[in-house]
Amino acid sequence: MAFFSKFTSRGESATLGVDIGSSAIKIVQIKKKNGQAVLETYGELALGPYAGLGVGQAVVLPPDKIAQALVDLMKEKEVNITTKKCGISIPFASSLMSVIEMPEVSAKQLSVMVPLEARRYIPVPISEVMLDWSIIPKNEVRPEDSQEFSTAETDSSFNTGASVHPALAKIDVLIVAIHQETIARYQEIATKGGLEASFFEIEIFSTMRAVLDETLRPVMIIDMGAASTKLYVVERGIVRSSHTINRGSQDITSTISKSLGLTLEQAEIIKREKGALGSDKNLTDIIVLVLDYIFAEISNALLAFEKKHNKTIAKIILVGGGSALKGFSELAKNNFKAEVFSADPFSKLSAPAFLVNILRETGPEFAVAIGLALRKLAEEE
Ligand SMILES: Nc1ncnc2c1ncn2[C@@H]1O[C@H](COP(=O)(O)OP(=O)(O)OP(=O)(O)O)[C@@H](O)[C@H]1O
Ligand SMILES: [Mg+2]
Repeated sequence: MAFFSKFTSRGESATLGVDIGSSAIKIVQIKKKNGQAVLETYGELALGPYAGLGVGQAVVLPPDKIAQALVDLMKEKEVNITTKKCGISIPFASSLMSVIEMPEVSAKQLSVMVPLEARRYIPVPISEVMLDWSIIPKNEVRPEDSQEFSTAETDSSFNTGASVHPALAKIDVLIVAIHQETIARYQEIATKGGLEASFFEIEIFSTMRAVLDETLRPVMIIDMGAASTKLYVVERGIVRSSHTINRGSQDITSTISKSLGLTLEQAEIIKREKGALGSDKNLTDIIVLVLDYIFAEISNALLAFEKKHNKTIAKIILVGGGSALKGFSELAKNNFKAEVFSADPFSKLSAPAFLVNILRETGPEFAVAIGLALRKLAEEE
């Protein structure tokens, strides 16, 4: 991949975003200059080879191996990371979110009441989770709007709960829980990788920071990774609904491999080089076979949301390496009524003009890492 560490001078104030995906680590280093976030360097490393698998395959690795991969990536000459100050993402699947209704009391009282109330929504002892919460600004959530989450093609919904203290005015509070074991695992990766992580953030929040401008109307963010495709409906800054489809870009690779009698490595190369532009009709048909399933699932989720909330999702934003497939956004545009955009998160950073095209192409993959680096930069101020 292309880097340009030689073209920029490094400041002291640089920050790093680290996205540990199931198939690849993505990192982005930025700094503040004249009030602007400036891209310093970025890079990516496939994790498959650390588990004896190919590039583009999702793997489950112990913290040691991930830390090793991180170290390998950071010291690559073209990447040349110069700061330890970072934020690290946590997979959406490792989190639990819900909107709870609380009486309108002081912040101090809330900090006592929210953890107590949260017990009802979190299926593990509250002492085992790290709980974060924020008040959803008034007029932004209507009482009939409840938050729902589902993962792994099941539909477990968490609804706004029974009311507490009915006499007082109500506020909505978004609670987010992450298991302590998950935090400990990422802390271990950070420490062994020689990083100083000041926060761990669930990947969708990083993505939202990196790709959303206006969030008033409901928008669907589609994150196509190696093993799965994650869908989120985001409205007024809040994740209102989510769904995980257990198919991703590695399924395209394996289908190409089976159909054309190629090794997975060969199939991965063809997938990335040719994609589904239509120039190779046979290959495009094979890819479309997999995408049709994923698109159908997306349509179902989209229509279900629209029906339930009586709203239109007018915009779809594509992120994740899988959406970098050539021809992907065109196919998506033909498939959905909503307007489809490929995310361009590097546009939030200033970067040398000669990189604009490559950054636009590779941007969807780096949305999470960019969002993390931006939060860290804001924290440093
Ligand atoms: N240019 C490309 N064309 C087609 N596919 C690509 C391209 N670049 C990456 N991919 C595919 O994207 C997938 C990886 O995407 P990404 O890095 O977003 O996943 P991840 O973050 O590791 O996964 P997850 O978020 O699900 O944990 C791989 O399967 C890879 O083959
Ligand atoms: Mg990812």
